[in-house]
Amino acid sequence: MSAETGGEPAAAPEPGSAAAAPAAERPAAVEFLSVGKTYAGADGRAVVAIEGVTFTIPDVVDHGEISSFLGPSGCGKSTVLRLVAGLAPQHPPTSGSVRVLGRPVVGPGADRGMVFQDYTSFDNRTVLANVAFGLECRGVGRRAREAEALEWIARVGLDPTRDAGKYPHELSGGMRQRVAIARTLILRPRVILMDEPFGALDPATRLDMQDLLVRLWREVEATILFVTHSVEEAVYLGDRVFVMATTPGRIVEEIHMPAAAAPARETQSQPWFHEKVHHLQDRLGRIEAEAVRPVKPF
Ligand SMILES: Nc1ncnc2c1ncn2[C@@H]1O[C@H](COP(=O)(O)OP(=O)(O)OP(=O)(O)O)[C@@H](O)[C@H]1O
Ligand SMILES: [Mg+2]
Repeated sequence: MSAETGGEPAAAPEPGSAAAAPAAERPAAVEFLSVGKTYAGADGRAVVAIEGVTFTIPDVVDHGEISSFLGPSGCGKSTVLRLVAGLAPQHPPTSGSVRVLGRPVVGPGADRGMVFQDYTSFDNRTVLANVAFGLECRGVGRRAREAEALEWIARVGLDPTRDAGKYPHELSGGMRQRVAIARTLILRPRVILMDEPFGALDPATRLDMQDLLVRLWREVEATILFVTHSVEEAVYLGDRVFVMATTPGRIVEEIHMPAAAAPARETQSQPWFHEKVHHLQDRLGRIEAEAVRPVKPF
């Protein structure tokens, strides 16, 4: 999605509000400076997951951006996301600095929300109670939190009357991910971290979920970091795509994407889309070939 704003001019921001700061002075949404993470492997040997990872995702006023992360398995995509989330054992980094909205990450926080590939809802809670969970933790009263949860259930394309009382095991994979998205977005995080959220869905459901995400993202105007193995998904969703390589995990390319103004199915037939997909597939093919290049014979 494009970072450009369009349509009607925005109302003048309140003096002193975050939106009043000129773009150049606004802290970045996410900033990595020479970040490295080395894990202690099971055999006691150090595993260098990522090294020297540097990137900046700007905080685009009243808009947000989607950044896709692509790369072979083990290149450190989840490590990067969980460092932003402040989740152990990825957090803290071994070297470098991770900042979110201008502040160093010291742990998880309400400014960040996460959606994983695994369905992360509570099995013993209904859809309504799952979606309302975060508000409950914040001490919001039952009536208010359930009213808001019902709105979010509808927003993610579920039927509040039919689905709110269901338990996760009564839902399809796509429906469960809708619940996971509602659970996260109801808290209005400024930064949303999505680790292969649609990886387990069939291709048609996946395209529907991509369209849903873009619609909701326009509404919540958040910055999204989106990890995927699908080049098409990365190109469709991403304002920018970060390509990563392994051993050690690092960013090797950052590509800006044109605005995708149409739904996923239409966008996928456009020439620019094919061109970007082809470029990325070629790049990833070369990264994977280098990773498995055999040791030179004697
Ligand atoms: N908790 C951990 N302890 C030890 N090593 C780890 C740990 N978590 C990740 N690693 C290692 O760090 C490297 C990067 O892992 P990470 O999960 O970030 O990769 P990824 O790009 O998300 O992979 P995938 O696409 O398979 O999800 C891998 O070599 C992995 O084995
Ligand atoms: Mg991963």
